[in-house]
Amino acid sequence: MHSSTDMAMSWSLLLPFALALVASASHAAIVEHTFNVGNLSISQLCQPDRIITAVNGQLPGPTIRASEGDTVVVHLVNESPYGMTIHWHGIFQRGSQWADGPAMVTQCPVQTGGNYTYSFNVTGQEGTLWWHAHFSFLRATVYGALIILPRGGAKAYPFTKPDKEEIVMFGEWWNANVFDLQQMALLTGIPAGPADAYTINGKPGDLYNCSAPNQTHMFEVRKNETYLLRIINAALNTPLFFKVANHTFTVVAADACYTTPYKTNVVVVGPGQTVDALMVADATVGRYYMAASPYDSGIPSGPAFSKTVATAVLEYAGGANTTSPPALPQLPEFNDTDTAHRFLSNLTALVLPGKPTMPLAVDTRMFVTVGMGVADCQPEQTLCNRSRTMFASSMNNASFVPPRSTSMLEAHYSNATAGVYTRDFPDQPPILFDYTADASNNATMQYTTKSTKVRTLRYNETVEMVLQNTRLIAKESHPMHLHGFNFFVLAQGFGNYNQTTAAPQFNLVNPQERNTVLVPTGGWAVIRFIADNPGIWYMHCHFEAHLDLGLGMVFEVQDGPTPDTSLPAPPKDLPQC
Ligand code: C2O
Repeated sequence: MHSSTDMAMSWSLLLPFALALVASASHAAIVEHTFNVGNLSISQLCQPDRIITAVNGQLPGPTIRASEGDTVVVHLVNESPYGMTIHWHGIFQRGSQWADGPAMVTQCPVQTGGNYTYSFNVTGQEGTLWWHAHFSFLRATVYGALIILPRGGAKAYPFTKPDKEEIVMFGEWWNANVFDLQQMALLTGIPAGPADAYTINGKPGDLYNCSAPNQTHMFEVRKNETYLLRIINAALNTPLFFKVANHTFTVVAADACYTTPYKTNVVVVGPGQTVDALMVADATVGRYYMAASPYDSGIPSGPAFSKTVATAVLEYAGGANTTSPPALPQLPEFNDTDTAHRFLSNLTALVLPGKPTMPLAVDTRMFVTVGMGVADCQPEQTLCNRSRTMFASSMNNASFVPPRSTSMLEAHYSNATAGVYTRDFPDQPPILFDYTADASNNATMQYTTKSTKVRTLRYNETVEMVLQNTRLIAKESHPMHLHGFNFFVLAQGFGNYNQTTAAPQFNLVNPQERNTVLVPTGGWAVIRFIADNPGIWYMHCHFEAHLDLGLGMVFEVQDGPTPDTSLPAPPKDLPQC
């Protein structure tokens, strides 16, 4: 660690540079919000009023709008009965690592009655991101959009300036209390049941039994105008197909990274992912359904999921009086992997001057299996039936458990990692096997154990990781999310990864850049990133049910040579456990 005199010295040396930076960023603003997290009474699906946890009494929570280079400051005031943290999904948190948010990874939860100020810059990023609770299942109702405009505003988009922008945010709704659901899943080792509904901007829409008129989101459009839809999947456990009857899209960005314009009539978005799509209101004046339906990639079919469809209504100016019901788009089958793969693998980056390009030299290669398995009941699982094994998910057969008493980032910062985590996350699975073969579906192969392992990286190391899905329980498309970085997706495919046949297919020219990749079901994806952000960074499946069962690991990125490339000291108000 640097002593304060060292810091003062190096800061005085850096001062001229710092001043130059301030001058060039003189238009940068501070975007400040207060998030009061507390109980909200809400009626949904004709259920009597339910108490949920929400920010400022809103579902979804408030939208944060900033411009590239701004500083976002959010004062979290926790008036809810639960511990709370907020994660700013997709924000790099360079220099503000303590604001990343995952519970016990970068911070202890903010206790009831406590508060914490998250402060971070949105530099070098533009597009659609979002924020969500990162503790228990609370993100089911604690989430909202985080929009970063280009510095020059909408006219600086690298595509036709839309007439208007709309946020289209998907969620999952449970009639039961989600915190209790998660506790029960933890104690029993049996994953929580499926959601009762999918939602668009917090509302399930007309196709559910008992949907009241105010439970359908309305989007108003004018004939021939162009809309930028900022599509966000905030659902806990379900990738979704999205269509609008009689309308098509041009995708222009994914995970706040511009893409080569891609025309499609269906958008596929996994939990954690975002898609920006232009849509021209070029249909006959009238009313149309926008619909989100589940993509169930499990083979053989995965856990139970709700076979329902969330809808919103797209209403043209002058089209309100049509008496016929809105047209419904023809939706893909629930298990339509072809459609999902076509969309997900066809996206490429829009190469722009000054944007990061794919690193061609690789320092560290990792081959990491991702999927479900089983483990013994843990001591704290007091309701676990010891005669049966419980589900546990893992990466390279290590099933991740967060530490209990101190966050990993604090342990890393104070060099007191003993008893908190170990540095032995492996670069290969412990045994090599036929990952996707039905024969691997047996108790010996499925067995995993709980641990808190990190993979330590030198500052600026380039990492290539093959994510290989397994068939230990079932094949399934897992949305793998990396905190602190974007990564390039070089290639993806089905079956067991084969370096010889895959390498020639790598896109080294304009691979899509994302923060979350849906690894194809029973398949693989190859990603690359540069570890130029010191700190403790969670990598995990963005299915909340799988994360809870251990589908994650952590990168520990060492400090670089300068104060600027080193982890800063923790803020004074960092919550204590
Ligand atoms: Cu949006 Cu750790 O996740």
